[in-house]
Amino acid sequence: MPQDITTTVLRNTDLGNANFLIEFEATPSMVQMAPAQFFMLGIPGSETLLRRPFSVCGIPGTFEGAPPDAVQVLYKVVGTGTGLLASLAPGSVIDVLGPLGRGFEAPERPGARPVFVAGGIGSAPFPALASWLAPQASPPLMYYGARTKNDLPLADWFESHTERLTVTTEDGSAGHEGLVTGPLAELLESSPAEAHHLYVCGPDPMLKAVAKLAQRHEVICDLSLEAHMACGFGVCLGCVVPTRQPGSDEISYDRVCVEGPVMRAGVLAW
Ligand SMILES: Cc1cc2nc3c(=O)[nH]c(=O)nc-3n(C[C@H](O)[C@H](O)[C@H](O)COP(=O)(O)OP(=O)(O)OC[C@H]3O[C@@H](n4cnc5c(N)ncnc54)[C@H](O)[C@@H]3O)c2cc1C
Ligand code: FES
Repeated sequence: MPQDITTTVLRNTDLGNANFLIEFEATPSMVQMAPAQFFMLGIPGSETLLRRPFSVCGIPGTFEGAPPDAVQVLYKVVGTGTGLLASLAPGSVIDVLGPLGRGFEAPERPGARPVFVAGGIGSAPFPALASWLAPQASPPLMYYGARTKNDLPLADWFESHTERLTVTTEDGSAGHEGLVTGPLAELLESSPAEAHHLYVCGPDPMLKAVAKLAQRHEVICDLSLEAHMACGFGVCLGCVVPTRQPGSDEISYDRVCVEGPVMRAGVLAW
């Protein structure tokens, strides 16, 4: 059940290259949240701005090294709101509305191995997903792509919490040079459709390319979408995406903040 609370920042750690990990005091409802659910954060100093959406990165009690009563959010400074967020010191108070939206679920095909596909700061929900899946699924494979080696926050954490981490960068400064879809295609080509379940978060062009690959190989693929959000709870209709139910030609519109942010790739009418 979402709650609108005022809570306290415990830590706000600069991870370098404009990436930060903020931790704030959790409420009991946050302990129950699913990976890729999100919060609308009201950031002090940004009262003239709308709240901003951020995924949960560490669910209380699951993220290694985190206090059991803290929620973690991994974020990148891209504009005014995230710039103000980065300036918050421990002890600052922050308005948090959440948890919101529909998160990732466990693989539905028995024995399917989770495969995480992340683009840059799109890696934010994957620590929560890795920790949450650990007791109920095979250890995940991860394909982590970015522009440069500076855009791979928490890569060390993923290295030690996945079965295998494959990094790609567009400029070749870390891992394989190129896009994440290259090595991912090799995996899907060399294994049966039911062997894997894809979990994807990143920029739209990457989501679309991975969705296409998954469709070609008939692999189940869940995407965590991003959209500009004004309310975060289904009222403003500012975040809708076109969808089509399997077997139907009819286009409808779903709200990323309520029916998503996690949606099955096959229902998106892109
Ligand atoms: C469900 C969801 C979960 C998200 N989780 C995270 C997360 O865990 N970590 C993280 O760093 N970011 C996340 N985002 C994106 C984050 O909300 C935006 O980066 C943030 O709102 C930017 O605010 P700003 O005031 O700094 O930027 P602004 O000054 O408002 O804009 C700066 C730039 O960012 C772009 N932008 C702004 N809002 C969004 C948005 N909602 N989606 C995509 N681009 C946007 C603008 O088009 C512009 O180019 C998430 C977005 C959604 C919808
Ligand atoms: S953000 Fe208002 S309906 Fe989704």
